[in-house]
Amino acid sequence: MSHAPQPVISSTGLFTPAEAISNEELVASFNRYVARHNRENADAIAAGEVAELTESSVEFIEKASGIGSRFVVDKAGILDPAHMAPRLPERSNDELSILAEIGVAAARDALARAGRDAGDVDAVLCAASNMQRPYPAMAVEIQDALGIDGFAFDMNVACSSATFGIQTAADYIRAGHAKSVLVVNPEICSGHLNWRDRDSHFIFGDVATAILVEEKSIAPAGHWDILGTRLKTVFSNNIRNNFGFLNRTHGGIDQSGPKTDKLFVQEGRKVFKEVVPMVAAMIVAEMEKLGLEGADMRRLWLHQANTNMNRLIAQRVLGHEASADESPTVLDTYGNTSSAGSIIAFHLHNEDMAAGDTGLICSFGAGYSAGTVFVRKT
Ligand code: COA
Repeated sequence: MSHAPQPVISSTGLFTPAEAISNEELVASFNRYVARHNRENADAIAAGEVAELTESSVEFIEKASGIGSRFVVDKAGILDPAHMAPRLPERSNDELSILAEIGVAAARDALARAGRDAGDVDAVLCAASNMQRPYPAMAVEIQDALGIDGFAFDMNVACSSATFGIQTAADYIRAGHAKSVLVVNPEICSGHLNWRDRDSHFIFGDVATAILVEEKSIAPAGHWDILGTRLKTVFSNNIRNNFGFLNRTHGGIDQSGPKTDKLFVQEGRKVFKEVVPMVAAMIVAEMEKLGLEGADMRRLWLHQANTNMNRLIAQRVLGHEASADESPTVLDTYGNTSSAGSIIAFHLHNEDMAAGDTGLICSFGAGYSAGTVFVRKT
C-alpha cells in the first residue's frame, strides 16, 4: 500500500543582526531631522509652500504598535538625520550579497537544529518582501553558498511570504518533487522603510528566518506535523511600494522626502480595520474544516505587525482575551520584520509545547495577503 508523502516542519532557524535601535534613539534622530527641516525651510513654511513637519513620540509608537525596539543591519546610517537610511556598501559579484548572507545564516541554524546536512536538501525557496536584485535569484545564490544540489527560486508575497513558502514547499513534498525544502526569509526591511515618514518610521526591523519543510519519513524526532495550510489574497492599495525596474526614467528611488511611493507606504488605519476581520474569518473557517475549536489551540504565532491587531485576532480565534503564553509577541524587541515575524515568534516560543499540542502560524500583509499553517507537535 502506498501513502501520499506527508510534509512536516523539521526545524526553524533565526539570524538576528548585532545592532538595535530603541524607540528613544529613533525618535531623537527623527526629531532632529524635523527641527532641521523646519529651520531650513522656515520661509517656505511661512509662505505656505512647504509643509511643516511634526515631531514623533515614543509614547505614541508604543501605544499604537507595541514596538519597543528593532534590530538593523546598519544603525549609524539610519540614525544620521542627514541620511536616514542604512549605508550598505555595494559588494562585488564575487562576494555573497548581504541578503543571501543573512539568509544563509538562518538556514544553517535550521539545518543544524534538524541535524541535517545541506547535501540532503532538494530545494531552496527565498520567500521575502524585498529581493536585493531581480536575478540571478537570491535563492540560487543561497543554494550555492550552502552547497545544495537541486533547484531554487524567489517568491514575494510581502508579509505573507513565509507561509506561502511553507505551503509551496509542502506541495512539492506531497507531489513527490522534493523530500527536503528550505524556505528562507531574509528581511532587510530597513532598506524599504521611509525613516523620514512620521506615520511609519518606527515600524520595521531587519532579521532572517528559515524553515525546513520535509517528508515525514526523514524528519527528525520532535518535528511538527502540518495539519493544513490555507492562502488568500485580495487586492488592495492600502499597503504599497512602487519601487521597480521601470522607475529609473522617473528619477529612480527618491529617499529624500517624508513622502515617497518608492518606499513602503500604508493607510495604517484602513489596513487595521480591513485585515483584522479578514484574517480572523479565514482562521476560524480553516479551524472548522480541520475540526478544531478555540480550546484546541495551544498557541498562536501571529504575524508581528501590531499588538492591537493581534489582540483582536487572537480573541476572535480563541474566544477569550489571549495571554502572552497563548499569543506571544516579539514586536517589543524585533518590531515588524515582515514575513519573518510569525516565524521568529514560533522559533522563540515553542520549546515548552508537548507532543500533541496544536498551534497556528499565521501571516498577513500587503496584497492583501494572508496565510495559515496549522501545526501539531509530535
Ligand atoms: N508620533 C506621534 N504621533 C503620531 C505619529 C508618531 N510617529 N504618527 C502618527 N501620529 C498621530 C497622527 O498624527 C494622528 O493624530 P491625529 O488623530 O491628531 O491626526 C494619530 O497619531 C493617529 O494616527 P493613525 O495613523 O491613525 O495611528 P494608528 O493608531 O492607526 O496607528 C499604525 C498607526 C501604523 C501603528 C497602525 O495603524 C497599524 O499598525 N496599522 C496596520 C498594521 C501595519 O503596521 N501594517 C504593516 C504591514 S503588515
